[in-house]
Amino acid sequence: MIQIAPSLLAADFANLGQQIQIVNDSVASMLHLDVMDGVFVPNISFGFPVIKAAARLSTKPLDVHLMVVEPEKWIDRVKDAGASIMNIHFEACRHLHRAVEAIHHAGMLPAVTLNPSTPVEMLRDIVADLHMVLLMSVDPGFGGQEFIPNTLNRIARLKELIAATGSRALIEVDGGINDTTGRQAASAGADILVAGSKVFHTPDPREAIGRLANL
Ligand code: DX5
Ligand code: ZN
Repeated sequence: MIQIAPSLLAADFANLGQQIQIVNDSVASMLHLDVMDGVFVPNISFGFPVIKAAARLSTKPLDVHLMVVEPEKWIDRVKDAGASIMNIHFEACRHLHRAVEAIHHAGMLPAVTLNPSTPVEMLRDIVADLHMVLLMSVDPGFGGQEFIPNTLNRIARLKELIAATGSRALIEVDGGINDTTGRQAASAGADILVAGSKVFHTPDPREAIGRLANL
C-alpha cells in the first residue's frame, strides 16, 4: 500500500475543520501543507495561523512543504506551529547541510524538495541525512496541474541514488497525481503520493484517499 498525503491547498477553506476531519478518518499517512511566499513561486497560499489550526485539528502528522525563499529562517516557527516533517526546496536554500542539521536539531524530520529541472544527483552528499525527498512532478505554485512524465525517470534515478548511498530516505511525489499517474509513480518506486485536487475536488474525499492508497 502506498502512503497518501492529501494536500490541504485543494480543500474548502470555509470548512477547514470538516475537511481535516475527513483526512483524520481516512487511511492518509500525513497531511500535506503548501506554504507559498509569492517570491519563490508565483503564488501566495497560507502561513502559520493555518498550520497551527491544522495541527490542532489533525490526528495525522503534518508534512509542511515550504515554497519560500530562505526557508532556514523559519525552522523554529514551523516546529512551534506543529510540523512533524519540514520540507525545504533545494533551490531556495544556500546552505542546505546547515538547514537540514537545524531541522533535525529542532526535532523535526528533514525533507528536501526538488523542482522538475533539478537533477536528483544534486542530493548525493546529503540524501543519507534525509527522512524524505520530495520530487515535484509539476512546477510548484499551483494545484490542478498536469503530471510531468519525466518524473518517472527521476523517481527511478533517485531510488538508485538512495540505494547507492545507503540512505533510508522515502520518495514523495507531488503534483498532478491521479489514478493513472499515481500508479505509474508507485511502480517507479515512490513511497508517498501527495494529492490535492484528486482528493478534495471529488464527491467523497475519504474514498478517494483509500482508492489512491490501493492503486
Ligand atoms: C503545488 C503543491 C502541491 C499541490 C498538488 O505547488 O506543492 O502540493 O497542492 O495539487 P494537485 O494534486 O492538485 O496537483
Ligand atoms: Zn506540495
